[in-house]
Amino acid sequence: MTRNIKSCFTRCLTKGLCAALALGLLAGCGARRTQDPRTLRIGVAVYLQSDTFISTLVQELERQAQEREQTQNIKINLNVVDGHGSQITQTEQIDRFIALDYDVLCVNIVDRTSAALLIDKAKEADIPLIFFNREPVAEDIQRWDSVYYVGARAEQSGLLQGQILLDCWLDDRERADKNGDGVLQYVMLEGEPGHQDAMLRTEYAVRTLLDAGVEVEKLASNTANWDRAQASARVTQWVEEFGDSIEAVISNNDDMALGAIDVFRQMGMDGETMPLVVGVDATAPALEAVRTGELKGTVRNDAQGIAQSMLDLSLTLADGQDPAETMELTDGQYIWRPYEQVTLKDLEPQEAAA
Ligand code: GAL
Ligand code: CA
Repeated sequence: MTRNIKSCFTRCLTKGLCAALALGLLAGCGARRTQDPRTLRIGVAVYLQSDTFISTLVQELERQAQEREQTQNIKINLNVVDGHGSQITQTEQIDRFIALDYDVLCVNIVDRTSAALLIDKAKEADIPLIFFNREPVAEDIQRWDSVYYVGARAEQSGLLQGQILLDCWLDDRERADKNGDGVLQYVMLEGEPGHQDAMLRTEYAVRTLLDAGVEVEKLASNTANWDRAQASARVTQWVEEFGDSIEAVISNNDDMALGAIDVFRQMGMDGETMPLVVGVDATAPALEAVRTGELKGTVRNDAQGIAQSMLDLSLTLADGQDPAETMELTDGQYIWRPYEQVTLKDLEPQEAAA
């Protein structure tokens, strides 16, 4: 109880208006207000910092926080902690942020089924909670109105990925359908089991092809946990089993797509001869592989936009404002950033303009 009163009081003081009022009272009427920037403390807990996309997102958050410090009269203390894939570790990290009375918590949850526990802790301490990239189920998000989710719609990435493959199939059938049987034989590299991006990308990529009337045959499908080396191991095994029959590798993310490409490169294949490989994220090495023609396409997972929305939301919440008044929220608690297709054709005009 005492903690709650204390935390309420400190939070109120951080609000621009209250702080200005308090300063005005202390300094006496008519005195000039001090222009010291206020400090915002954001606790960011990520599931695994070595994950390529997550590390890009963290870099974006840090870059944009610095940029805002320079342009706005604010100091942003971004404390990023790595859960190393353990929910127990991450929960302890969040307990610590709460004990230190951080202004906002940003959580890239390790295990989605633990969301309710974290929400209840944040609610008890009255600290707003923003989940990002790993989406808890809606019932959990609805437990408290100061809980938000910032991310991208997994179905959309699957759909765009399917579209890239469909274009390859329609544009150059001879290249795509290596055995000429009119069926696209594919293998699927899946991200973590249970992750919404893995499940929905898998489903929607294939559904897009089927809806367009393409006959497909799944030769194999397995998880490689978003990881390049694990993907190489899977693909090596599939190549032994299916040889030339593999016409496409559909991968839930770029790192695993690059793991597949590593194997085909080692076998002496190039962008022309290897199976059609598609990914998601548009990481820097993936864009390079799009340029060489080894990766037929990827889907931009908007790290920059997600970071921007997280910071906008954090600043608004720390100011005690209702985000619904200034930001575009879906169902009051979600901010969705769009995915975008990236193929060689999409890169060329940008590069020509640069
Ligand atoms: C996905 C991304 C993967 C991985 C995962 C982690 O959105 O495509 O590469 O970073 O998030 O949750
Ligand atoms: Ca075929």
